[in-house]
This record gives sequence, C-alpha cells and structure tokens, in this order.
Amino acid sequence: MATNDIGIDLGTTKVMIYKEGEGVVVNEPSVVAYDANTGKPFAFGEEAFLMVGKTHKNIVAEYPLNDGVISNYSLTKEMVKYFIGKAYNSKVIKPKVCICVPSAVTGIEENAVVDAAVSSGARQVFLIEEPIAAAIGAGIDVLRANGNIIVDIGGGTTDVAVISLGGIVCSKSIKIAGNTFDREIAKAIKNRFNFVIGQRTVQNLKHEVANCMPSEDENVVYKIKGINMLRGLPGTLEISTQDIYPVIEPIIAEILAAVKQVLEVTPPELSGDIYENGIMLTGAGAKIKNLDKYLESHLNVKVALAEEPEKCVAIGTGRSFELEGKLESGFRDVTPGFSR
Ligand SMILES: Nc1ncnc2c1ncn2[C@@H]1O[C@H](COP(=O)(O)OP(=O)(O)O)[C@@H](O)[C@H]1O
Ligand SMILES: [Mg+2]
Repeated sequence: MATNDIGIDLGTTKVMIYKEGEGVVVNEPSVVAYDANTGKPFAFGEEAFLMVGKTHKNIVAEYPLNDGVISNYSLTKEMVKYFIGKAYNSKVIKPKVCICVPSAVTGIEENAVVDAAVSSGARQVFLIEEPIAAAIGAGIDVLRANGNIIVDIGGGTTDVAVISLGGIVCSKSIKIAGNTFDREIAKAIKNRFNFVIGQRTVQNLKHEVANCMPSEDENVVYKIKGINMLRGLPGTLEISTQDIYPVIEPIIAEILAAVKQVLEVTPPELSGDIYENGIMLTGAGAKIKNLDKYLESHLNVKVALAEEPEKCVAIGTGRSFELEGKLESGFRDVTPGFSR
C-alpha cells in the first residue's frame, strides 16, 4: 500500500489517525471549540479540550459526537477536515482514506464524514465497521474460518461482535461505556457526600481508583478536590476503591450481559473457536482495572486486554487497505460516484 493512505478512528472521545509506516500520527480528544455568536470553530482536539468546562458565554467547547452518534454534523465535518489536514500534507498524491465511525451512526451522518474526507483531498473513501477494525488492530487474522469475539469499550458505546471469514457474524452495541462510569461516579459522589467534582477528577478516579474485582489489599485511596455543597465552598474528599465499587458494579454487569447475549446467539462451531481463542478487549474504556478478570470469572472463557487497546481501531482502520477486496461485510467503498 502507498504510504500516504490513512485510517481514521473517529471516536466519540478521541480521534486517532494511523499512517502506514508512521503509526498513530494524530491522537487527540474529539473536541471542537467555537464562537457562540458566529458558530465558527477556532480550535480542535487537544487545544479545544483544555477549554472544556472553562469557557465563558462567547465560547463553546463540545464533543460533536455524543453517545456514539454524530450530534453536530457541521462541527464533525470541520473537525475531520482539520485532522486530515494535520495528518496529511502532501499536495501531490491524494490519499485513500478509511474511516471508522461509531456503530450507531446513520447513513446521513456517514455522508457528512465522507464529504469532509473528500473535501480534504481524499481520492477514495472507505468506511469500516468498528469490530472489524478493532480485531485487525488487535492482531487477529480476521479472514480465517475461525471465530473471534471482540469487545470494544469506548466512551459512548460498547460493541460486542463475533467475527469470522472477514465479516461480522453476530453483534450487539450498547450505550454503556466509559462515559457511563464517569456519569455514575460523579452522581454517586454528589448524592452520597454532597460533593461536586469536574470531569477530569472523575476520570482520574476511574483510571486510578476504580477496580472491577478489588481484593482487600487493593484499596486505593485518592484525595479529590471539588465543591462541598453543604458549605458552598471548595474542599477536598478522600475516595477509595471500596467507595467506587458499588457504583461501577451495575455497569460492568451490563457489559457482561451484552457479551453473554452475543455468545448465546453465536453458532456452535464458532462458539468452539471462541472457547479456544478467548475474548479480546479493545478500546480505552477496557483499561478499567481488572475488567478482564471480572469477565473471565463470570464467563469461564479466557479474556485478554489487547496491547495498546486504545489504538486498535485506528491501527486496524489504517491496515484495512491491505485486505481490500477480501473483507466480507463491514468494509465499504463509499467514494461519491462509486456504486454502493
Ligand atoms: N486507564 C483507563 N481506565 C479506564 N478508562 C479509561 C482509561 N483510559 C481511558 N479510559 C476511558 O476510555 C474511554 C474512551 O475510550 P476510546 O476507545 O478512546 O473511546 P472512543 O472510541 O469513544 O473515542 C473514556 O471514557 C476514557 O475515560
Ligand atoms: Mg472507539
């Protein structure tokens, strides 16, 4: 493949761009900051992310993809154009661009993304389904007659899919993922301790303190800053793994239920393969501590967290060109004018 082709993981939380030979060249939050009066975007990614929660009335900083769908078309388009421009700057050779959009994205929403790629100079545009990209990125040979199950946990959605012979055999997507943990942790701390914390603090708790299978000696205690609502003043509070566990337990139980539902409808031959191959976890949301152990203990099947799980979709999207013509479903040429 020509080295100027790029794969874009357009996630609800992160945008990652993979270039063959160079690896992940863009890895930034999917945030756009714009002027509230004119609607004109002026910052993207990392720069816009620094403004989240700190804007005044003339500036809005938002995630244009929300809960796994594109909630703002024009901002998404501008953002995609900006990042393609950042990853790709040759005026001479136009790239092929493959994009992975969240699974709940509709045809109309897809068109906005395809338009953005074309107006950024793409000569050919492909869309790939997330589980296929995640599997390729996790190093699975998706073309074999061999069943594999992928559980990708992003910000907005968890996608579970069984893959064999280059296509998706059965799948399920639920709107319970990384952001659900954030929302519920913040809510619980507010209700229980009358203490309000910001998004970054919540995420620190999730990354450092939360544990899906905490043992007695794994109790981490973390001092957080926020607003004590009773006094109406800034304050600090100590939160432990044991405080967080009851909050995350129902969420991981829902993820477990989704995996079980997919396993239940998996054809028996493929179930046999899955029993051998185990379950592969991808997506940054899968990095919550001990989720692999939790799933393994309830499913009685091996569970592995992919190496660099946050990058699997981007890597798989970028490498999918190598499999062009061989992938069954889940990889489409959507270049305008190309019959779909
Ligand atoms: N170390 C970690 N532990 C738990 N969750 C994490 C960790 N790092 C990132 N996350 C969460 O992963 C989610 C984003 O996953 P990602 O795969 O980047 O999402 P998307 O595909 O939706 O852009 C966010 O909710 C983020 O807080
Ligand atoms: Mg993702």
